[in-house]
Amino acid sequence: MDKILVEGKRRLSGEARIGGAKNAALPILVSALLADGQSTYDNVPDLQDINSVADLLTHLGVTVRREGRRATLDAGGLSNHEAPYDLVRKMRASILVLGPLVARLKKARVSLPGGCAIGARPINLHLKGLAQMGAEIDIRHGYVEASADRLRGAEIYFDMPTVTGTENLMMAAVLADGVTVLRNVAREPEVVALADTLNRMGAQIAGAGTSVLTITGVEALHPTQVAIIPDRIETGTFMVAAALTRGDVTVRDCDPAHLVAVIDKLRLVGADVQVNGDRVRVQGPDKICSVDIKTQPYPGFPTDMQAQFMVLMSVARGLSIISETIFENRFIHVSELRRLGADVRVSGNAAVVCGCAKLSGAPVMATDLRASASLILAGLVAEGTTEVNRVYHLDRGYEAIEEKFSALGAAIRRVK
Ligand code: EPU
Repeated sequence: MDKILVEGKRRLSGEARIGGAKNAALPILVSALLADGQSTYDNVPDLQDINSVADLLTHLGVTVRREGRRATLDAGGLSNHEAPYDLVRKMRASILVLGPLVARLKKARVSLPGGCAIGARPINLHLKGLAQMGAEIDIRHGYVEASADRLRGAEIYFDMPTVTGTENLMMAAVLADGVTVLRNVAREPEVVALADTLNRMGAQIAGAGTSVLTITGVEALHPTQVAIIPDRIETGTFMVAAALTRGDVTVRDCDPAHLVAVIDKLRLVGADVQVNGDRVRVQGPDKICSVDIKTQPYPGFPTDMQAQFMVLMSVARGLSIISETIFENRFIHVSELRRLGADVRVSGNAAVVCGCAKLSGAPVMATDLRASASLILAGLVAEGTTEVNRVYHLDRGYEAIEEKFSALGAAIRRVK
């Protein structure tokens, strides 16, 4: 199994290019299920999760071709309504095929994703919404079985904003009979990117980016061509790396408007952040100040940046309180960071980080995607060598991360 070795204490400088957003690409590729004919997607990142969704779509009968960052999908041969356990267990976002399959094939059988390292992650809100649109839903032998001759428009309220829940129901509603109103939806840029894609395919979705979506069902959608938006979490990860190493890094091909909360915190930490079009230059401060962080649905501070910020706070001056309000178990990186010398105590959904720790390299284990990124960041400032194991988590969501950090002057390499 691959591992990544990082020699710390190098100041990063130079430019890093950001790839397409994993969490935008996944639902957008799935949306190809909703139309016959060939759709083309550009700026598709080369990631394990993208391979997983491509495998799943191929299994369902979609023709998938990938050349570099371009993917061409044709759902003309869509025939299979079952997403099996072996494919879904590799990636929870596979649940996104549920809504489109019911909309297109009138039925779907999708393995229940189950929990994961960061929480129980139920899909009750996806199922409640589909049921309100008239689907018959059964849970049998670990599978969700859903069917409806034609879904019908409905008024649906989400108890809490859910990103993939909003995306799933949006894709179900575009072909439903009548108007669907989704309230208290997720406002993440990835949700907006999916709504834009669906509208280009002929859907009628209003309100993307607000907490209410109004979707007027249409008879059919047509194929489209779109480019995937930049990955805001990859962007944020490089910005934190710049601040952490007191470096000077320009992050290119990103969308700074999607990172307002992260940029605000970085400035409070003392970093100099300059935004210029699709570039952000981050110059790290001499002394990193501590700030408190509370994760929230967009536009709040993203839970997917919490672990990376914790590393920054562990070498800051003073005390920081990090509250995680999205996932109940998203502090599993803490015990690994402690092995590197970080002073972090967890109580309920809050972590108290006592800064100024001198981190020192050690072997550590990656436990989920963003936790893995945080361990690489910790390695960049730790003394000596940090050995990050189980990097397959990292490969799910960061493209060529070691090459990008190397180009900035980090001493980092992958060992097979
Ligand atoms: N929730 C429910 N019931 C549901 C759905 C969600 O209780 O039916 C709860 C969840 O348990 C959680 C909260 O609602 O407490 C929000 O979860 P959400 O559904 O928004 O998460 P998700 O859609 O499963 C996406 C991203 C995650 C990201 C979260 C939060 C994708 C493919 N995944 O997950 O990304 O952390 O939104 O922003 O878009 C990652 O990329 O590393 C990652 C985990």
